[in-house]
Parts: sequence; structure tokens; C-alpha cells
Amino acid sequence: MSKYKIAWLPGDGIGIEVLEAAKIVLNKLNLDAEYIHGDIGWEFWCKEGDAFPQRTIDLLNNVNAAMFGAITSKPVKTAEAELVPELKGTGLIYRSPIVRMRQLFNLYICLRPCKAYPGNPLNFKENIDIVVFRENTEDLYCGVEFNPVPQELADVLTKLSKPFATFSKMPLDEYAVSTKINTKKGSEKIIRAAFDFARKFNRKKVTVVHKANVVRATDGLFLDIAKEVAKDYPEIQMDDANIDAMTMWLLKNPFNYDVLVAPNLYGDIISDLIAQMVGGLGFGCSGNISEKLAVFEPSHGSAPKYSGMYKVNPIATILAAKMMLDWLGEKEMGDRLEKATAEVIAEGKIRTYDMGGSNKTLEIAEAIAEKL
Ligand code: NAI
Ligand code: MG
Repeated sequence: MSKYKIAWLPGDGIGIEVLEAAKIVLNKLNLDAEYIHGDIGWEFWCKEGDAFPQRTIDLLNNVNAAMFGAITSKPVKTAEAELVPELKGTGLIYRSPIVRMRQLFNLYICLRPCKAYPGNPLNFKENIDIVVFRENTEDLYCGVEFNPVPQELADVLTKLSKPFATFSKMPLDEYAVSTKINTKKGSEKIIRAAFDFARKFNRKKVTVVHKANVVRATDGLFLDIAKEVAKDYPEIQMDDANIDAMTMWLLKNPFNYDVLVAPNLYGDIISDLIAQMVGGLGFGCSGNISEKLAVFEPSHGSAPKYSGMYKVNPIATILAAKMMLDWLGEKEMGDRLEKATAEVIAEGKIRTYDMGGSNKTLEIAEAIAEKL
């Protein structure tokens, strides 16, 4: 029996190609693992009306970790689904399987390390090394949304929000409501995860990203909890910034930042911004993590326009595989994989189109594997 069971979830489009690349390097490392394929994505939505079938959920309940490629998400509303030939008449509403997976398995940490590898022509500046901790199950992504708004909700909102309710006399289909729900427990868990990481890896500072001056209830709660948690980590400096100012400061002086922690939406935004500063979507790697299960993925999507061409950059996914090795406790293997990847980037001989080269996806993986 293998030491590890890994669920292997390629999904759609280039997700399939970048996972193939990741398999090349993991095989070369001889990780003692059994890789078990799981169905996920658009194809299963069309065939079965479920992009994340129960058998894949069962599989995730029985593995140590998972690698996930990307999925294609299309219509969100029934009306739009009616325009898709495969879905006509089903009345189904598409829900993103990855958002569902994060909530179902309580993968509350979204960990996104953003490191500028020397010699990457896409680096905004050399030596950027920022780690983002994004809360992954709550906030505006909690899925409690209304369009049109039910009368009971409209009545409560009108009653409670007077005299600010600009919507109060409007017809129910003239506005929509998405709720931002942040719990004390959920906020504390992600903030502690960020501080624990800073302590373990000798990072000096944790910056809390929010908009507490305007979004007082939820972001105010997040910031208050951060101030409390920070007291348990006296050796680590804590500061905070509003999300809007943060985007500006990050561009102006990325070296002021070390570890960032944010509620779901701000974390999503800020991690894309920083990923672009260290090379773009071909370099953005991501881990969806709980104590029991972790699912690693590139942050990019299925890039339909490149699907089947084997030309996209697999480095984001290979770095996600490195994160998986670290999480499994195979740190030596993880370090070797990162070093080999950094060497291929620095040498600059084998590069995909985004880095100005013409090599194919699997050639990058083979070049990295050769250095292992
Ligand atoms: P995308 O991330 O798939 O691609 C946007 C563009 O970024 C591509 O056209 C390409 O130019 C570039 N790109 C992406 N990955 C790259 C790589 N590895 N190397 C080089 N260049 C790369 O975003 P898009 O086109 O907005 O979405 C396509 C589909 O993916 C949609 O259905 C969307 O909902 C879904 N999506 C899925 C995600 C996931 O599975 N976690 C995340 C983001 C989008
Ligand atoms: Mg995103």
C-alpha cells in the first residue's frame, strides 16, 4: 500500500494539461502515493446536472490530499442555463464546484504564497515574497443571495435600515441582496493560521486587510479579532490597511509586506494583484486547507482559448504540488521541487509563451524533472 492517497481532479480545459505536468514532477520525485482520479467540472454538469458529483465528495473523504486543475463555470441563472443546449429544460442553477468544495470540507484557509523567482522576466520587482492568507468559506462568498428579493427579507431590511433604505419603495426585482457573513470563529481561525505561519517561518509582520471604516459590522469584527489574536504573538508585528489603500501601497512598496490576512473577497482580489507582480496567472499557486484535508491548485481557470494546445505555463501547478508536499510533511521533496523550478526559471532556456518562449507545457515539467 502507498503511503499517501491523493485525489487527482483535472477538471476542464487547461486544468487537464497542467495536472499532467504536475504528475511528471511528482513521479520523478518518487512520491510514495496512489493517485485516484475524481470527476469534476463542466462535463459532469452537462451529463449529470452536477459539476461536483457525490462520488468525488466520497473520494475526498478518503484521501490525504488532492490536486485540482481548474473548472469552467458558465451560467449562474436559470434563465441563462436555458440558453445552453445541454441544459435547456433542466431548470438547474450552476454552482461553482470549487466554492462548494471549500465550504463542504471547511477548507477555511486559502494559502497563496507569491514569490518572485530570480530571472523571471515577468517579475514586477525582484525579491517580492508575500504570503496571503485568505478566509475561504465565509464573507460575501457564503452563498446567501437574493435576486429577486423575497418580500419577508425586504420587510425586515426596510424596517431595520431606516432611514437609509434607498431600496425600500422599489419593486422586489429592482434590486438584489448578497450577504456578507463573517463569524467570530471563522475570522479567528484564519487570523491564527496567518500568525502561526509567521511564527513558524520567522516572518516579521502580519498585515490585516479590511474596510472596517465603512463596512463596520463585518470588517470591524474581523479587525477586532485580529487585534486580540495578535496579543498572543508579541514577537510578530501586526498592522492593518483598508483594501483600497492596500492595492496602492502594494504597488508602491511591496517590500513593506510580509504575511497578509483578509476576509474572502479582499483576499481573492489582493492575491491576484500580488500574483501578477510575481509573473501572473502562470505563477499563482493556491492551497485550500483544513486540518483534515487540503486541496492544491493553480489560481487560474480553465483558459478555454488555450484548451488542448498544451502551451500554458504549468509552473503555478508545479508550485501547488510543492505546497502539497510541504503539507504532507515531505519537506525535503518540496524544497527540491522548488529549487529545480527556480533553476529552470533562472536559466531561461525553456519557457512558455507567457514568459516570451515557445516551449510546451510538458516540456517545462520535463526540464524541471530533469533537475530533480
Ligand atoms: P483563466 O484563468 O482561465 O484565464 C485567463 C487568461 O489568463 C487565459 O486566457 C490566458 O491568457 C491566461 N492564463 C491562465 N492560465 C495560464 C497559464 N497557466 N499560463 C499562461 N497563461 C495563463 O480565466 P478566464 O478566462 O476568465 O476563465 C475561464 C474559465 O475558468 C471560466 O469558466 C471561469 O469561471 C473559470 N475559472 C475557474 C477557476 C478555478 O477552477 N479555480 C478560477 C478562475 C476561473
Ligand atoms: Mg480569484
